[in-house]
Amino acid sequence: MDSIRIVGGNRLTGTIPVSGAKNAALPLMTASLLTGETLTLENMPALADVKLLGDILGNHGVDLTVGGKRSGDDPYRGKRFSLCARDIVDTTAPYELVSRMRASFWVLGPLVARMGEAKVSMPGGCAIGTRPVDLHLKGLEALGAEISTDGGYVLASAPKGLTGARISFPSVTVGATHNVLMAAVLARGETILDNAACEPEVGDLATCLNAMGAQISGIGTRTLRIEGVKELHGATHAVLPDRIETGTYAMAVAMTGGDVELAGARADLLQSALDILGDAGVEITPTNKGIRVARNGASIRPVNVETAPFPGFPTDLQAQLMALMCRAEGTSTIRETIFENRFMHVQELVRLGADISLDGDKATIRGVDTLKGAPVMATDLRASVSLVIAGLMAEGETVINRVYHLDRGFERIEEKLGRCGAKIERLTG
Ligand code: EPZ
Repeated sequence: MDSIRIVGGNRLTGTIPVSGAKNAALPLMTASLLTGETLTLENMPALADVKLLGDILGNHGVDLTVGGKRSGDDPYRGKRFSLCARDIVDTTAPYELVSRMRASFWVLGPLVARMGEAKVSMPGGCAIGTRPVDLHLKGLEALGAEISTDGGYVLASAPKGLTGARISFPSVTVGATHNVLMAAVLARGETILDNAACEPEVGDLATCLNAMGAQISGIGTRTLRIEGVKELHGATHAVLPDRIETGTYAMAVAMTGGDVELAGARADLLQSALDILGDAGVEITPTNKGIRVARNGASIRPVNVETAPFPGFPTDLQAQLMALMCRAEGTSTIRETIFENRFMHVQELVRLGADISLDGDKATIRGVDTLKGAPVMATDLRASVSLVIAGLMAEGETVINRVYHLDRGFERIEEKLGRCGAKIERLTG
């Protein structure tokens, strides 16, 4: 199994290109199930999760062609995926696949909307929390799908099609908003989704669905109105830049000091996180190409943060901020309000010399003068990358095991950081 070796202490300077967003790419790929015509997605990131979802969709009959690169192309330029679900050959998503990636549960809505039936494995537990799917199922039931569960599978049936309804989510959920939105675009009549997630990735999906012929309004707000249409058609859509990758590299620069341009980044997608970095003493400035992040000499100031749905501070940047605060001059607090078990990085950061205590959903981080390299491992993607950030500033060598977590969501991380001066390499084995 591969690992990443980092020798800490180098400042980061230069340019890091930001890839297309994983969490937009996945629902966008799933949306290809809604039409028999070709959906072309540009700026697709080269990630293990994207590849796996391609395989999962292939199982349903989706043909996927990945555009080749031309000589002279920027090696970081996103890929072009053409997905065509002309014939859906199987409406079952088996346990072996869904258990490997929760986002594949989102095939449920599109399949039942287009095919009138779907059988999708329940995703099961996960390293960051229990992550139930009850709100996905309630939403689809409200649209008239008959839902039952059997042998660990959800069976959804709507042989006469779905019907629009008013659905109010009791709490904000990105996944259920994706799933129900994709179903509602082909339902008869109007659907209103109240308290819908307004994460930029939901907006990206809705914009793409509209390009495919859907009629969705209220994009970017908590209320989505969908006027159902009979069928969707092909379209071309470019995936928005990854705000979590952007924030992660911004925190890496904040950690090491230095001056880096995040090319292709969009500040409006992560303003709350950039504001927190500003409070921590990091300089953030817009550039023609993206965002410049710099910390030259100033110390890292402590912050108090709570994670929240968009536009609040994203849970997917919580671990990275915690790594940064390990070196702040003073005591910070971070409350995790989205997932109940998303502190698996804490004990690993402590192995690197961090001083962190946990009390329920609140972490108290007392900044230390030095972190010290050690072998570490993490149980999820964002926890793993928080260890990379800590390793970049730790004395000596940090080896991060279980790199497959990183490969799920960070394209060529060792190259991107290495080109800016980090001493980082992948050890294969
Ligand atoms: C998406 O997960 C993202 N995944 C997560 O990113 C992200 O952390 C999360 O949204 C929150 O922003 C992808 O986009 C692939 P939710 P999702 O439904 O949709 C509860 C990463 O690292 N809930 O918004 O699964 C749930 O338990 C990943 O890239 C229910 O109770 O998250 C959680 O507490 C990790 N019932 C809260 O809602 C439901 O039916 C928010 O979950 C659904 C969710």
